[in-house]
Amino acid sequence: MFFHVDPEKCNRDGFCVEACGRRLIEMGEAGSVPALIAGVEGLCINCGHCVAVCPSGALALHTMKPEDCPQIKRELLIDLERAEQFLRSRRSIRNYTDKPVERDKLNKLIQVSGYAPSASNARPVHFLVIENKTEIRRLSGLVVDWMRMTVKEDPTSGNAFHFDRVVKFWDGGQDPICRNAPCLIIAHAVENARMAQVDCILTLSYAELIAPALGLGATWAGFVMTATMFYPPLVEALNLPEGHKCFGIIMVGYPRQKFMRMPMRHPPAVAWR
Ligand SMILES: Cc1cc2nc3c(=O)[nH]c(=O)nc-3n(C[C@H](O)[C@H](O)[C@H](O)COP(=O)(O)O)c2cc1C
Repeated sequence: MFFHVDPEKCNRDGFCVEACGRRLIEMGEAGSVPALIAGVEGLCINCGHCVAVCPSGALALHTMKPEDCPQIKRELLIDLERAEQFLRSRRSIRNYTDKPVERDKLNKLIQVSGYAPSASNARPVHFLVIENKTEIRRLSGLVVDWMRMTVKEDPTSGNAFHFDRVVKFWDGGQDPICRNAPCLIIAHAVENARMAQVDCILTLSYAELIAPALGLGATWAGFVMTATMFYPPLVEALNLPEGHKCFGIIMVGYPRQKFMRMPMRHPPAVAWR
């Protein structure tokens, strides 16, 4: 059944009616359990808020039983001080050890990232994980090729982004593009999927945030992302499925350094009305 309420467990509080973002549930006659409004099945986005808000575990969707949705452990909730430190201590990690990242850790990172918000709960994000260091180095090399070309053909842009310096580091044997990271995670989606870019970026932001809990660090691979917009050989090398576009890339690995302090940031520009 698409939507089922156990009349024995339901305490008729109407929480599910209120929680449904699409207003698809109604209370019905006095004493009866909530029900899906006739004909709206197709409008359900399967967000599971109705299942998650029910205090008695009475409500199930055909895709989601309450017993499959873990209870929130109140003892694990973090207070403001912890939450603030958690967010402020996240750092872009640019120096990695040579240790490869275990598959189960990468899998965990990706699984948890999948809980990021998604427009209409559409979840269009696909992941490509590149663990092969030779392939990562080849991608860095292609980005450097693009930078060399840009410095030559469009020096204004090249100079604005200091590509000449980046190229010099590469020529000196460093990898200023992918930072010798042992792993890249690419978020891609069908090119014209609604809000795909936002969904991909949110998902990788979750990955960056959860990384330290796995002993890992991450950084956005902005140079690679930019080059995908302008340099077809790089897009070819990524070899994403037909019709897909790369919307975000992070590098992941074991950090070589530990940060001791949380750097200052200028205050957010805010207007109040
Ligand atoms: C979209 C985006 C692209 C980025 N690209 C790169 C990059 O290519 N290389 C790099 O070292 N850092 C990159 N960064 C990291 C930023 O430089 C970093 O967030 C900033 O310096 C602040 O440091 P923090 O993240 O540790 O607070 C990128 C960050 C974002 C959000």
